[in-house]
Amino acid sequence: MRCGSPFYASGDADFGYDVTDHCAVDPRMGDLATFDALLAEARARGLRVLVDYVPNHTSIEHPWFADSRTSRQAARRDWYVWADPRRDGGPPNNWRSVFGGSAWTRDPPTGQYYLHSFLGEQPDLNWRNPEVEAAMLDVLRFWMDRGVDGFRIDAAEHLLADPELRDNPTSETGDPQAKRLGEYDTQRHLHDRGHPDVHALYRRIRRRLDRHPSGPRVALAEIVPEPGVGLAHWASFYGRALDEIHLPLNLTLPSLPWDAAAFQDTVDAVERAVPAGGWPTIVLGSHDERRVASRYGPDQARCLLVVLLTLRGTPVLFNGDELALTDSPVPAGEARDPWGRRQAEFNRDRGRAPMPWTSGDHAGFTAGAQPWLPLPEHPQALSVGVQAEDPESTLTLTRRLLALRRDLPVLRRGGYVSVRGPADVLAYERRDDTHRVRVLANFAQDARRVALDGAGWELAVSSSGEAALDADAPALGAHAAAVLVRHTS
Ligand code: NOJ
Repeated sequence: MRCGSPFYASGDADFGYDVTDHCAVDPRMGDLATFDALLAEARARGLRVLVDYVPNHTSIEHPWFADSRTSRQAARRDWYVWADPRRDGGPPNNWRSVFGGSAWTRDPPTGQYYLHSFLGEQPDLNWRNPEVEAAMLDVLRFWMDRGVDGFRIDAAEHLLADPELRDNPTSETGDPQAKRLGEYDTQRHLHDRGHPDVHALYRRIRRRLDRHPSGPRVALAEIVPEPGVGLAHWASFYGRALDEIHLPLNLTLPSLPWDAAAFQDTVDAVERAVPAGGWPTIVLGSHDERRVASRYGPDQARCLLVVLLTLRGTPVLFNGDELALTDSPVPAGEARDPWGRRQAEFNRDRGRAPMPWTSGDHAGFTAGAQPWLPLPEHPQALSVGVQAEDPESTLTLTRRLLALRRDLPVLRRGGYVSVRGPADVLAYERRDDTHRVRVLANFAQDARRVALDGAGWELAVSSSGEAALDADAPALGAHAAAVLVRHTS
């Protein structure tokens, strides 16, 4: 069985991101009572729960679309984006699906095309129709009434496109640090996403979240910066008066090469782009990426955990990255991810392997059932059970970093100061009235010694046993990071 987020009833063409009922739990994962129990158990442990909200599209099997496609006069015809073919019978314009191919599919019952920013099985809702907005805001209310603490808004930028359906221009930029999406990157996405009207919509959504009778809720949103376009557009989703998305996800880091300067430039650029009073997020992995440990290597993954948990902002940790899990081996031709079936280099199954909990059967993930995807490599050795007992494990490192974050307010709320370190070393400080915290991450393949200004620094955490503080100049092993703390008052 599949498990994970989204957990709604789904046609399952895209790992649950093709929803057939936004207010029901996929019966293979339980029901609303199961969800309520999960929420209660989380509460009892002091955890908050955010759920995926998939507003841009539904499943092709959703009753709304089933009605919409029956005829041009259907009650819900205008709930989706329909358009006539071009004169030659082709799609209405040149828009591409994120997963490759045209973003339009011709539907035989009426001869019109429907828009799908992702799979053909994921028709885009028409948010310009007030009935759609009302129905989808009711979905938010449904989950807020049940007690969720907030939402991760999927494909947040795609909700409103150009009503005139103008062609996108060809992209002429080649930003080496931007997320690569293959064919989709050949266009500038001027007209198929990020329409200016979307900001008024997010202000309305935000009001709903802020004004729920039992208290305000938080919104994270997936907004993928476009190659070569800079971060201003991404940052605009905070809202001019910080009245749109609380936490637009910062998805710039996972695409970076293993290069200290690239990380430093990107972190600095994000810090500059976040509006005054806005709060950053830090993302290194997700269910859409290769595992950090496979992208860069296991030591590098530990080094980046230090970065993730010490930068300014809310860290977003993808489950399993705290264990430095590697990609799971998915045999050629056996991809379950629809994108991976089309373009092997984008196969997202690799990072979605089950979590190894124990050294038992199926690594304790499931008993008596076959997991949805193969287990990661070395599941026993990397399991939570084994790592929890090992003082040198990546899980122990993660816990140490979280404890430091809890103990030192400067790591949670202090300012960010970029510090240009020696070549191959990412360096920055977090500062408040009482502390300076210097973080040094050595991206080089050999050890580096880094001079510090002044005395009084203490080594709080390092990602490798090799890091040592000697005569106020920490020696960092290859691909190792260290956190140094100095009291200032
Ligand atoms: C973004 C999600 O993260 C991804 O997994 C999904 O395939 C698309 N949105 C479509 O919903």
